[in-house]
Amino acid sequence: MRTQVGIVGAGPAGLLLSHLLHLRGVESVVIDLQTRESIEQTIKAGILEQGTVDLLRQTGVGDRMMRDGFVHHGINLAFSGGIHRINMYELTGGRAVMVYAQHEVLIDLIAKRLADGADLRFGVSDTEVEGLATEQPTIRFTHGNARQTLECDFVIGADGSRTSTRFLIPEGKVRTDFFRQYPFAWFGILAEAPPSSDELIYAHSERGFVLISTRSPKVQRMYFQCDPATNVDDWSDDRIWEEFQARLAPSGATVQTGPIFRKDVLQFRSFVCEPMQYGRLFLAGDAAHTVPPTGAKGMNLAVADVHVLDRALGAYYDSNDIGLLESYSRTALQRVWRGQWFSFWMTSMLHRFSDATDFDLRRQLAELELVTSSPTAAKNLAESYVGLPLT
Ligand code: PHB
Repeated sequence: MRTQVGIVGAGPAGLLLSHLLHLRGVESVVIDLQTRESIEQTIKAGILEQGTVDLLRQTGVGDRMMRDGFVHHGINLAFSGGIHRINMYELTGGRAVMVYAQHEVLIDLIAKRLADGADLRFGVSDTEVEGLATEQPTIRFTHGNARQTLECDFVIGADGSRTSTRFLIPEGKVRTDFFRQYPFAWFGILAEAPPSSDELIYAHSERGFVLISTRSPKVQRMYFQCDPATNVDDWSDDRIWEEFQARLAPSGATVQTGPIFRKDVLQFRSFVCEPMQYGRLFLAGDAAHTVPPTGAKGMNLAVADVHVLDRALGAYYDSNDIGLLESYSRTALQRVWRGQWFSFWMTSMLHRFSDATDFDLRRQLAELELVTSSPTAAKNLAESYVGLPLT
């Protein structure tokens, strides 16, 4: 088999890139270890930046999102000083975010790619990539008991945080020491309950962080900071709701309860791989970088990467110009590091660190007071939250 761009990973980065390339007449094949069902059902984050929303709409994959998603013009920061709304819409000159779950975006992208005749291979195994330092790399994989060889011009490593493609870059050609572990995780739930708030609440408390998010008028997504070793089976519904109430009480916020039908623990990490390219291999999304979920940047950074990569590949196929491919890593990393800063900042402002002293708590409260009372500070948060325009 031959294609122009071989894409490893059918997540937001891989599928969106395949879609964007198709629109400009460039062929790709996408392979993934997981089945289509598993990809379409895995629960991930749910906040799309304005630029992500615009791109999905403009490229014809935004219909269901516009119908079923929820536009949020603000977020709330809650702490012992009360609940404060950050009016992102006003502070950013009319930008907002969309609450629409990542797996719904994937369902839409897969449907559109298949309708456009794409070659997507789910449930592959034994992927082997060769020839990255040549102009004709190959991807070998097993699909439906048959061994396949895919010859391509470029290989895209879009295989998420459990990437294998990142490890194809030889030692010495890449820095992988930009890494930070956090001493906590998030306990996430999905509950059948009415919304506790019209907009998301990011809450600081001495017992630890809480995030009140939503999926629909009937299904709520919420998180509380927990120990990374937490076992979800140790937490009954009653105990979970008590923990939410206890953490929200100092700010005056309350939570609407209901049957919990999913519990999971999300690990926290910050990581960047530099550069995001080696020979004919280009990394995109979580394969190249991970952020803690506090800033809701993960999927948005993946979208921004492939927006850059699509134009770079376009320039190559249109006019044999490799300039944008050569600058891909530098261009993408600028935004990635901005995302790293924002995610780290939101995390450190809102979470309880195990070694935190009273000094640290007072300092966090002073920062929250600043962000919620100074329009300049609020604007700083709002601009990052809704996201920089895609460049
Ligand atoms: C979510 O709804 O899953 C969500 C929202 C905001 C975040 C992280 C996750 O910052």
